[in-house]
Amino acid sequence: MNSIKYYFDRVSEIFAEEKFVFEPKELYEPINYTLRLGGKRIRPTLLLAANALFGGEEAEARDAALGIETFHNFTLLHDDLMDRSPLRRGQPTVYTKWGDNTAILSGDTMFALAWRYFLRQPTPHLHEILQCFNETAIEVCEGQQKDMNFETMTLDEVSISDYMDMIRQKTAVLLAGALKIGSLYAGAPDKESAKLYEFGIHMGLAFQLQDDLLDGYGDTAVFGKKTGQDIRDNKKSYLPLAALNLCLPEQKKELTTLFSAKNNMNEEEKVHRVLELYNAINLRTKVEEAIASEFETANQCLNGIQASEELKKPLHEMMDSLNGRKK
Ligand code: IPE
Ligand code: IPE
Ligand code: MG
Ligand code: MG
Ligand code: MG
Repeated sequence: MNSIKYYFDRVSEIFAEEKFVFEPKELYEPINYTLRLGGKRIRPTLLLAANALFGGEEAEARDAALGIETFHNFTLLHDDLMDRSPLRRGQPTVYTKWGDNTAILSGDTMFALAWRYFLRQPTPHLHEILQCFNETAIEVCEGQQKDMNFETMTLDEVSISDYMDMIRQKTAVLLAGALKIGSLYAGAPDKESAKLYEFGIHMGLAFQLQDDLLDGYGDTAVFGKKTGQDIRDNKKSYLPLAALNLCLPEQKKELTTLFSAKNNMNEEEKVHRVLELYNAINLRTKVEEAIASEFETANQCLNGIQASEELKKPLHEMMDSLNGRKK
């Protein structure tokens, strides 16, 4: 029986077989750069594993794997521009290397290329697959807008529940959508696709909580992204929101000021001070507990799916590989 590594390797092969450079090269080179850098390729791997879970043919879902990952990479080009992030996958981001306009246009093209990949392979389930893909894309944009809205709000104006709703949209729905799409190619019963989607939501929430944690505590050399960027951007990530509940009144006041869009303190001093405050309240442990709790819920969702344990194993392995990840 296949392991999750089998699906990761298949995704690598599928990408290696595909050409991404066309004319004009100024448009396609940044696309090729991004897609060749790879990253973890979690979403297409989930899509293929979900397809296999319900007995689907890999050849039918292959192009959708390309499509979902190309869409994900499109969101990264725009996200890095919006967040002013200098590094991704250990390399300069597209907008820093080629400029804002390139990040916008190459990104837009990747969204359209994703559609091309989905449309390339005929399937009787195409309508529901594209509907799921498009609704997912809209939710990702809604989540991204909420993430930006929170930047200019004060810490106490954003609740943990607002935050969880925001990350469900900006991140979790794409993992969930990838799983659901994989299962749709296999003609899985609606009820099982829905359970798989819920599994993806909780794994996705854990995944984004971990991303927030790594922004504060990761190692740039391993994580591949410049740490502290959420602090510089006044992001209302899980870290400052959870910190607020653990702080003394004085610390609360300081943290709120530090995360205010009006604060014009030196950026590196600000990152340093925020991390000092986090350490003083042992925030890391609290965040790790929240991550563990979402993984536990995801695990329960996976256990409730009507499929053989043997075929569910790769998805358990995926959770294990994401749990405690450093990049
Ligand atoms: C980054 O996603 C964006 C988030 C949702 C946190 P990944 O961490 O999956 O990025 P890559 O594709 O592996 O680089
Ligand atoms: C990313 O959230 C979500 C999307 C790209 C849609 P982040 O902004 O936290 O992701 P990173 O940390 O830049 O990868
Ligand atoms: Mg970002
Ligand atoms: Mg962002
Ligand atoms: Mg992040």
